[in-house]
Amino acid sequence: MTASSETAGTNIEPFWALDPDVTYLNHGSFGATPRPVLERQQSLRDELEREPIDFLSRSRERRIDEARKALADFVGASASGLAFVPNATTGVNSVLRSLRFEAGDELVVTDHAYNACRNALDFVAERWGATVSVAPLPFPLASPDEIVDAVAGALTARTRLAMIDHVTSPTALVLPLPELVSAIAGRGVEVLVDGAHAPGMVELDLDELATLGMTYYAGNCHKWLCAPKGAGFLWVAPGRQPAIRPTVISHGANRDTSLRSRFHLEFDWTGTTDFTPWLCVPTAIEAVGGRVEGGWAALRLRNHELALAARDLLTATLGIATPPCPDEMVGSMAALPLADAGGVVANGPDTLSQQLRDQFGLEVPVMPWRSPRLRLLRVSAQLYNTRADFERLADALRALSVTGANSVR
Ligand SMILES: Cc1ncc(COP(=O)(O)O)c(C=O)c1O
Repeated sequence: MTASSETAGTNIEPFWALDPDVTYLNHGSFGATPRPVLERQQSLRDELEREPIDFLSRSRERRIDEARKALADFVGASASGLAFVPNATTGVNSVLRSLRFEAGDELVVTDHAYNACRNALDFVAERWGATVSVAPLPFPLASPDEIVDAVAGALTARTRLAMIDHVTSPTALVLPLPELVSAIAGRGVEVLVDGAHAPGMVELDLDELATLGMTYYAGNCHKWLCAPKGAGFLWVAPGRQPAIRPTVISHGANRDTSLRSRFHLEFDWTGTTDFTPWLCVPTAIEAVGGRVEGGWAALRLRNHELALAARDLLTATLGIATPPCPDEMVGSMAALPLADAGGVVANGPDTLSQQLRDQFGLEVPVMPWRSPRLRLLRVSAQLYNTRADFERLADALRALSVTGANSVR
């Protein structure tokens, strides 16, 4: 059975470009860009191709500054510490690869970290002879305090930096960031936040986090902000901006700094590229926020409530006794542990995810968790989703006799 357009995708057209025949429950992985934002991008590309020199040379800084200001207002930061990057991975790499460590230094990360960013941390640690110390976070868990205790417990006198997710990818937990930043920075340790999922999902006030001691924050605009792919950002605390360089060194390294900071000169140009995704961020903020009366705050609440409803429906369907985390740690995604998957092959395509797509027209990620045999099913709730989408998923899981796990410890 494939979900038909009569039942799937009722909220999709004409705003979203998604296939209305697919029940898309994976906004979290790569976001989805609405048509008005894509149209804006096309018109910017038309401008670029009509007058490349004007677009890429004369008006570039003004255009980037305007887009940066809109993003800065949205994430609660001053524009001076904010740089566009293509994605969160690039932002995280820029920070880690700029820093200098000594042999024996410790870099703390959690076992819920995103693999790509963890790889960057491992790479840098190896280069300097530093050690990566992994704080195991509980899941399921009853209180955000358990997270703070786990991370604080991994800090030692040798810890130089902690890389912390704002919203974890496999487990979809909104971590207690102010408490974590305070606990880490209070020990004199730099905090790099991987906020790939946060902009558009949770309210951001980077300046407030900066007062608690946050050093760096990398985020994506293509996920929950729904900007085109290629739009991400890096925020760096004022005192650390001179030390943080882009992953690609270009003209900005020796340009005159009388009018612009070295930080902006370097990050705003890393070679010729299509930077229209950055310039579409103001349109995405306006167009997506404008879909809901009450703007972004109402949109975030709507998606949060739908994610909670989806989680409750799925815990009941899968036979999971207690939700895996407190409601306050749910943003607009929820992850559910599945029972032991038997003969799953490590790194192979997940068979359940493929079955849901092929037989039911449902796009849902199923990820290995701590061992290839244990898996998490993650759902996302975005404006184009309704409760009916999750009911279709629940029906499909029942039809496939999938059951959940009450503990994955
Ligand atoms: C927590 C986290 N960090 C980083 C990333 C990487 O994002 P990107 O591939 O856009 O750099 C993701 C992507 O899903 C993520 O979930």
